This record gives sequence, C-alpha cells and structure tokens, in this order.
Amino acid sequence: MASVIRVLDQAVANRIAAGEVIERPASIVKELVENSIDAGARNLVVQLEDGGKRLIRVTDDGRGMSPEDLAICVLPHATSKIADVDDLFRISSFGFRGEALPSIGSIAELTILSREPGSELASRIRCSGGTIEGPVAAGGPTGTSVTVRDLFFNVPARRKFLKEARSELAQIVETLTRLFLPHPELGLKLEHEQKKGMDIREDSSRLARIRSLFGEELASRLLSADRTIGTLRIEAYFGPASLTKRTSEYQYVFLNGRFIRDKAASFAIKDGYAGQIMPKDHPVAFVFLTMPPDQFDVNVHPTKTEVRFRERDLLVVGIREMLRNGLARENGSRPIADQATRVAESPRRESRDTRGDVYAEMERELFGRVGDPPPPTAAEIARAREPESTTTRRTAHRCHSLVGSVMPEPTSHSALQIHRSYLLRESPQGLEILDQHALHERKLFDEWLARIDSATLEVQGLLHPEPVDLAPAEVALLSDRQLELERLGVTFTTLGPRTVLLQSLPRLLAKVTPSEVIEDLVVRLKEGAALGSDSLVREVAADLACRAAVKFGQVLPAAEIAALMAWRERNPGAKNCPHGRPVALHLDLRDLEQLFDRKK
Ligand SMILES: Nc1ncnc2c1ncn2[C@@H]1O[C@H](COP(=O)(O)OP(=O)(O)OP(=O)(O)O)[C@@H](O)[C@H]1O
Ligand SMILES: [Mg+2]
Repeated sequence: MASVIRVLDQAVANRIAAGEVIERPASIVKELVENSIDAGARNLVVQLEDGGKRLIRVTDDGRGMSPEDLAICVLPHATSKIADVDDLFRISSFGFRGEALPSIGSIAELTILSREPGSELASRIRCSGGTIEGPVAAGGPTGTSVTVRDLFFNVPARRKFLKEARSELAQIVETLTRLFLPHPELGLKLEHEQKKGMDIREDSSRLARIRSLFGEELASRLLSADRTIGTLRIEAYFGPASLTKRTSEYQYVFLNGRFIRDKAASFAIKDGYAGQIMPKDHPVAFVFLTMPPDQFDVNVHPTKTEVRFRERDLLVVGIREMLRNGLARENGSRPIADQATRVAESPRRESRDTRGDVYAEMERELFGRVGDPPPPTAAEIARAREPESTTTRRTAHRCHSLVGSVMPEPTSHSALQIHRSYLLRESPQGLEILDQHALHERKLFDEWLARIDSATLEVQGLLHPEPVDLAPAEVALLSDRQLELERLGVTFTTLGPRTVLLQSLPRLLAKVTPSEVIEDLVVRLKEGAALGSDSLVREVAADLACRAAVKFGQVLPAAEIAALMAWRERNPGAKNCPHGRPVALHLDLRDLEQLFDRKK
C-alpha cells in the first residue's frame, strides 16, 4: 500500500500553531506586548480598531530588529531568546517558542516596521496568510511597530466566534492589566478608534502601579507584606477581611513578572483568609513571586500561563502564612507558627514537588475533606426531628389555659413576629408560620414582574450615583445585557473600562445599595450567560428581590407586618420564594388537637 503519512506544509503547520496561541484579539495583544517587553521597551502604545478585530498596532521604543532579523522573525521556530535545550530550563524572557509572529502572520495581515538604535533607516516586512513580502527599507522611528489587520480573515469559523468590539476590548484591557501590573517601570497608552483609553506612565513601586490600574480607593485599603524563604521571594498586597469581592477576579498571581494561573496559589490565597471572610466571598490579593528560573517550568502550554513548580508546597505555605499573619497583625491578634521555614528546611523537600503534604491538603479542601465526620444516618435525623418527649407533651397540656392570654388578639392583617424571623398568624384551619424573608422576597418579585408586564414600573433615579469598580470583562457583561436590565428598571452608564455608574433602580428596590446591585448582577450574568432574555429577567429579578427583602433576624414594624399579611391574604397560592424555598408552613387545627392529646 502506498504511504499515507505526509509532512504538513509550513502554512498548515503555522495555522495549527496559531489555533493554540491566538484565540482572539487579546491573545495577539499579549504576544506583541510580551515581545516589546522582551526587547527592552520602556514605553508602549497600543492602538485598536473594532475591538482589535480590524486593527491592532503595538509600537515600542525597544531595541528593534535589523533587516536580516526582520526577514526571519516571521519564520516558525525563529527566536533570539533561547539557543539550546539547556536554555529551556532557565527562561527569563516572556517568549522562547518562536511561534507568535508566524502564527499571527498565518491568520491575519501582519506588518512589522522596525529600526535599531544605530541604524539610519527602518525596514518593513509583510506577512499575510503565510505569504512573506520584504523586508524593504522604509522610514520610521527607533523601535518596532507591529500592525495586525483583519484577524481571522482567512478562517471564517474562528472569526464567527469573536464577540462584539466592547467585549473584545474588555478582554484586551484585562490582558494589559495583567501585563503591566508587575512592571511599574513601563508606560502604556491605549487608544481605541482614536479615543484615549488607559494611559499610565512609569510608576515608582508596585503599589503605585496597582493604584494607577485600580484606583486610589482600592489601593489605599491594601495591606502589604513580603518575605524571602530560601530562593523564593513573595511580595503581596492584599485586602483586609472587610474588603471582599463576589468573584475571584481581583486575585492576581505573578511569577517573575509573568501573570500565571495556578490552582495551588489560588488555594493558598483562599486558605489565608479562611475563617476571616464568608466562604462565598473572595479576597483581593496581588501576589508577586520571584524565584530562579530553574525552579519552575513554563513550557507547559503555548500561552505560558501555566507553570510547573519544583516546590509547590513551599509556595502554598508561604503565601498562606503571609496572608494569615498580615490579617492577624491588622486585627491585633497573634501571628501563627512559622510553617514555611519548616517546609523549606524539611529533608523530604526534594520529593514534594508534585504531591507533597500541602498539595494533598489542598486536594482535600477542593474535593472534600477526608477527615470530616460522616453524614448523620437516617435514624439520627429522625431522632433529631422528634417533636418532644412525652414529659413535655404532658406539661404543655397543663399550660393550655395560659395560651389565650399570651397570644395577641389576631386581626385580619396582623401577625406575631417571633425570633425576628417568623410571622405567626391564625388561619381559618389553624396556624400559619411564615418565613418573613421568603415571603417578602416573593412579594417583591411578583410585584416587580407584574409592573414590568403592565408597563407600570416606577423607576427612581439615584440621588447620589456611586461609581462601582469592576473587572473590564464584568463591565462588558453588563453592557451586553443593558436592554434586559433596562426592562427591569436598572440603568447605568459606563465611566471607563473598569467603572460603571448605577443611575436608576425600580422604586421597589430603593433600599438596596448600588454596589450590591451591581455585584449581584455580575454574578448572575456570569452564571446565566446562556440564558434567553425572559429567563434572564426572571433570574435577575429573583436575585435582587432577595437582596431587597427584609432579612432574617430583622425586627419588623407593625405596618410592614400588616403590608406583608395583606399581600399574603390576596395571594394565598404563593408557595415558594423565587429561589424555591417555602414561604409558609401550616399547622392544622386537627393536628394541634392531636398533639395536645385532645383527640384520640
Ligand atoms: N517588538 C520587538 N522588538 C524587537 N524584536 C522583536 C520584537 N518582536 C519580535 N522580535 C523578534 O522576533 C523574534 C520572534 O518573535 P516571536 O514572538 O515569534 O517569538 P518569541 O518571542 O521568540 O517566542 P514566542 O513564540 O514564545 O513568543 C523574537 O525572538 C525577537 O527576536
Ligand atoms: Mg514572542
């Protein structure tokens, strides 16, 4: 049989490589900016059109390329950053694969204009769909300017998956944040459709850089700590327990100036706050790790955001202890014992790289604790639910005559609040016990949707609109669903890639604070990305109704109890709150009589 195996031609191979590294405009921005940083640039300009889909241009003042280098930089595996296999284990640059430029040139129109500092002229090379033209001499400043036009012009299937310009832009802003956060020495100007976006100059410190990117309000609340354990240095800026977010988007981990995603480090951050914040909340933390390049491997995935550490345990314990101690200092309590140094000095250290004790602990935490007590058996649950012992039943029988004087005379719209949480009222057949929060939540939800349907929703402008800071992707999420939110009476404007300003709310929700509304919305929009318009409206209404409803443990004035009861009487069929919890339990008169031994 004839041979069926053939070596793919270069254009196909490049396209396959591009599939791994270039997913969207933000991936191109990442590759180009990383190249500029590797070339020693200090100031970068990023220009975009149509969210980067039509044009991305990154211009730097780095060391540039000679015409000879320009001719080969678009060829696969052409790199100036490593020379042999050994170099792979001491990588200190962003790039080393020699894949980014040929990949981009295979799925877009790529033009590079570059001039070395000593050279009189610049040179230009073009690469489109894999076809190379040039280099030719051209005029241009020192440094390099890379222009990428018409992303995926020859891969319609990929182009289809690109989002609206707004969302792509948001991802680019997040990407730039991750790139520039660990490099306060670099300046950046971002322009979209000729409009100015991010504009940061060289900052004097990491904290100053956090301030430039996230604003004074957040930066001024951060605590800081740094520590060196052997060859590992950890520097962290982190929020006090009172500063939490609804998502983990405000947690950044960097290794030697590179943003990384690492489960162990995320776990360590979470664990550092254990017991200090609610489990559903997420802390704010910027963690900068520095270690010799031979202590980790970034050659795990083409995008290089995953890393394999030689000593993961040390990292986890180090981060966790630092955060815990920092929080303890803030609260004025005693610091915890130093476990990190112990791990660092442990003789078993070398063998801990992949599955050490701390890693096992992390897995238990993530996937269920081995040492937890077993769940109660059915018999135990039944015993716990047994209403009363025989003796208490007898006592209750004797006390019968007192009940009439303790219970207030029920009127049609009143109820007795007990434990600041439940409302008791007489019903025609017995006694109704209502959950005040669930009942109010259901009332708000029904009223809100009825007003939307009948176009009688009253919207109230906020007297003091308050800006709320978010991640750029979150701002984009909100903007994408603006129409649905307007139907609900929630309107806002965007003040920048990271800030929104809530402008109005339905009158029914007047008591909710703007940041709570926005945070609830973001969480819901993330979870409900696939929801159709009507379902999304219902889900958001349910969340905000829950937020606005009276809380468990809240004392209710008589007028509020009366309003709830009046609604209850008009809506006896409302069984559950919009999240499914029962609104009321009913104790039938006949059951009561049986419980009191009045009926055989
Ligand atoms: N802005 C720039 N200034 C100077 N030289 C550059 C610039 N961009 C790219 N180069 C040169 O072109 C080469 C190829 O770049 P490319 O991004 O394709 O590969 P890399 O950065 O070496 O590795 P990786 O694929 O991991 O990014 C680089 O090694 C570098 O020598
Ligand atoms: Mg590169």
